[in-house]
This record gives sequence, structure tokens and C-alpha cells, in this order.
Amino acid sequence: MGDQVDKAQILVASNRGPVSFSINEDGSLDYRRGGGGLVSGLSSVAATSDTLWVCAALSEADRKAAAAAPGARLDLAGFDLGGMRVRMLDIPADTFTDAYTRVANSTLWFVHHMLYDTPNKPRFDAAFRREWEGYRDYNSAFAEALLTGSADNARVAVQDYHLALVPRMLRGRRPDLRITHFSHTPWAPPEYFRMLPAEIGRELLEGMLGADHLGFLSRRWADAFLRCCETFLRVEVDWSKRTVEFGGRLIEVAVHALGADAAGLRERAAQADVEERRAALRERVGDRRLIVRVDRTELSKNIVRGLEGYRELLRDHPEWHGRVTHLAFAYPSRGDVPEYREYTESVRRVAKEINQEFGTADWTPLILEVNDDFPRSLAAYRMADVLLVNPIRDGMNLVAKEGPVLSDNGCALVLSTEAGAADELGRDALLVNPYDVSETARVLHRALEMDDDERRARCERLVESATALSPTRWFEEQLRSLR
Ligand code: G6P
Repeated sequence: MGDQVDKAQILVASNRGPVSFSINEDGSLDYRRGGGGLVSGLSSVAATSDTLWVCAALSEADRKAAAAAPGARLDLAGFDLGGMRVRMLDIPADTFTDAYTRVANSTLWFVHHMLYDTPNKPRFDAAFRREWEGYRDYNSAFAEALLTGSADNARVAVQDYHLALVPRMLRGRRPDLRITHFSHTPWAPPEYFRMLPAEIGRELLEGMLGADHLGFLSRRWADAFLRCCETFLRVEVDWSKRTVEFGGRLIEVAVHALGADAAGLRERAAQADVEERRAALRERVGDRRLIVRVDRTELSKNIVRGLEGYRELLRDHPEWHGRVTHLAFAYPSRGDVPEYREYTESVRRVAKEINQEFGTADWTPLILEVNDDFPRSLAAYRMADVLLVNPIRDGMNLVAKEGPVLSDNGCALVLSTEAGAADELGRDALLVNPYDVSETARVLHRALEMDDDERRARCERLVESATALSPTRWFEEQLRSLR
């Protein structure tokens, strides 16, 4: 760790950073590199430019690491992040809870994924307005760190709904910076977005329009954003160029459809721990056909309806009894949000019901694991005959792209029409309406029955589309649009 304060040419800001720390028994700090497209996208850029990643300290160990070099960046050069430096912000606990748990994850996430059960929620009261202040403070903490860390004319890539206000905060103070904001979620259509208090909806849109360039994962989400700008800010949108005029500037709204990191994934999946898990799973499931799903335990992933679809399949097609196993790997997520805890319980309940209804002494129809084991997920991708990805709404869904890349025998992909990934993969996947449990059952049956040649041919085309825009090129495209 160093404490140098040299200014970066390229900066990234995101709530969750590229590393997370843990404290060893002897009190020393260890760290683990995070997954995801952004980390791999940036790694190669970081090797050639001076880059700084600003993120929030998310644990005690992160805070300890942040404090070890007070006010300075953690210098991780020499580790596997290339020349990238990371600065973790120690945000006061109350501010962090207001911004991350309440506003970002319990409100903005719900709006963009259209998750509200509206007779009960949302309710925008005085408490929410106070939490909104916290969200603003959290955004300003990021803006300050970016202002301090950026060289003249630096390029700044702000990520996601946690940091929607940052572009405008930077623009006001440093017109030299070139700023992009990328949304990894869907964007709500105006008919849904309008449930936010009017002044807060406007503040979000205006916050993002402080950027020069806005990126989305699908044309559907970019269009929804543009329609919100027309509706709530009454600004001119040029639909042929996909630009918005705001504050005397033209802001470009573009689609960058992040693909899977094929080389990185294949390298990781060839390691011994993945092979060990593959062998253990094979031992457990024998030569049965495998339907695999891998998700965060997340409301929008629609795990319960997916399990119910599997249950209908088993009810309608007794010929599969004893011949198929469903592996559902759901890693824990956002336990601070009550809806997530309840949802996890529903997932467990339905899973138990299925095993009680169909299980026999020598066949467990469903193996649900609610824990985080990345190598085990990679092993499952390799083994899948059918990969089920059925979110009710999803910015992209990288599982749908990564699974086919790693599949040993060519898997069939059952994919929701509502995932951004359906834009690229819709032709070769078997598409389902995620709300339609019976259709999910029918399509799972069709996927299981697909003959080997067709399945492999489709999977080859899926891999081609899934890897069309590597994370490196995805990130470079965004930087290029700031020239
Ligand atoms: C989504 C968001 C990311 C977020 C991730 C995990 O993919 O777009 O910004 O990091 O979920 O969620 P978490 O709350 O654990 O960071």
C-alpha cells in the first residue's frame, strides 16, 4: 500500500469495488478480487493507463484497509489488478445505510426492476426524504474523491444507480472532466418512474445528464431513459442520433451490450477447484440430465416461479422422474433488505415442497444451495444440459452469456424475454415469459428433449453472440465515446 497522491487519467466509481478485504487470524489484511464484467473490462486498460477506482468500504476489513493509508489510495499495483489503484471510501454507517440499503436497493432497484407490490409499497414520506439526503451525501463523498484524484481532462466512468447524482456534481466543479455514466440495470418506463416524488425523479435524471455520455445494456433501457427525459424534464430528444439537449450541451445515450469474458472464464474454469467440484457433483447426480440455474438470491431473478415451472414439468411429465436433477445455486444477497430475506425463505419453502412431492430414496429432484461457491457455479455451467435464466426484468444477465461459454457438451438456454441478454441471444435461446409458469414447464421439457445436434449447434451460436463484445472492448467503447 502506498500513499502517493498522483492524479489519474482514467477513473472509475462504483459502490462495490474490484477487491474486498478480509482480516487474517494474525490481524493482517488479505484481499480477494471481485468478479464481474467491469473488473475484467478495466484490468487491461489499467495496464496501460494511470487508473484509479473509487469505491465504498463495505466491511470492517475494507474500512481497516482504507484507514491503513488515510486519505490515500490503496496501491494494489503488483497484485493481479495490473496498475490499477483503488481508493475505498469510509462512508459513515448511517449515510451508507440511507444511500445503499434504503434509497439504492429498496427504492431505485425496485423502480427500475418494477418490483413493487403497490398496495403496500412504496410510500414516500418524511423518513424517505431524510434517506434521500443520505443518498446525496454519499454521492458527494464519491464526487469529492473523484475531484481530488483526477488529472486535468481526465475521463471518469461512473457506474450504476447508486451514483446517479455524481455526474452533475462533477460537471459543476470541473468542466474539463469527460464523464460517462453506465447503468447496469434496466431503466423504468415513464409510466412507472413517475411513482417517484417529482422532484426526486428530476434530480436523478438531471444528475445523470451531467455526463457527456450515458451507457445502457439494452436499447429497451436506453429508450426508457430518453422517454423519461422527454416526459419529466421536457427536453428535446433527437431520436435519430439518440442525444438529449440539456444545460446547453448534447448528451449521447448509447447501448454497450457487455459480453462474457471468454478467455478469463475458461482459464478459471480449468483450475483444480472447479474440477474437484465437478467430480463431486457428478458423483451426487449420476448420469441424470441437469437443469442448472445460478443467481444472486434476488427478487428480480424470479427463482420461485422457476422452481414452480420445474414442479409443473415433473407433474406433467412423470417420464422425467429419476432422470433429471435441478441444481439451483442461489448465493446470498442484500440481507439488510427485508424483502430479500422473505424471498429467500420462499425459495427454500418451494424447494422443500418439490423434494417432498417427488423425492425418492435414491433421487433428489432438486438441489438448492443458498451460499456462495464460485468454483461450484463454474462446475455447474460446465455440466448443464439446460440452463434456466428467467428474470422478471434484468439489465443484461451475464449468467445467460457465461453458461454457454463454459458448457462442456453444449447446453440449451431457457431465457426470459425480459433479460437484456435476450437482445443478443433471443434467436438461439428458448424464450419464455417469466410470469408464465406453465410455459416455463413446457419449454424446460422441450429443452430437455432437444436432440444433441440441435442443442450443440444452438449453443455454438449462443457463444458467438455472448462473446461479441468482450469486457475490455465494452469498456474501451465507452472511453472512446469521451474523446
Ligand atoms: C447488480 C448491480 C451492481 C451490484 C450487483 C450486486 O448487478 O447492477 O451494481 O454490484 O448487482 O449487488 P450488491 O448490492 O451486492 O453490490
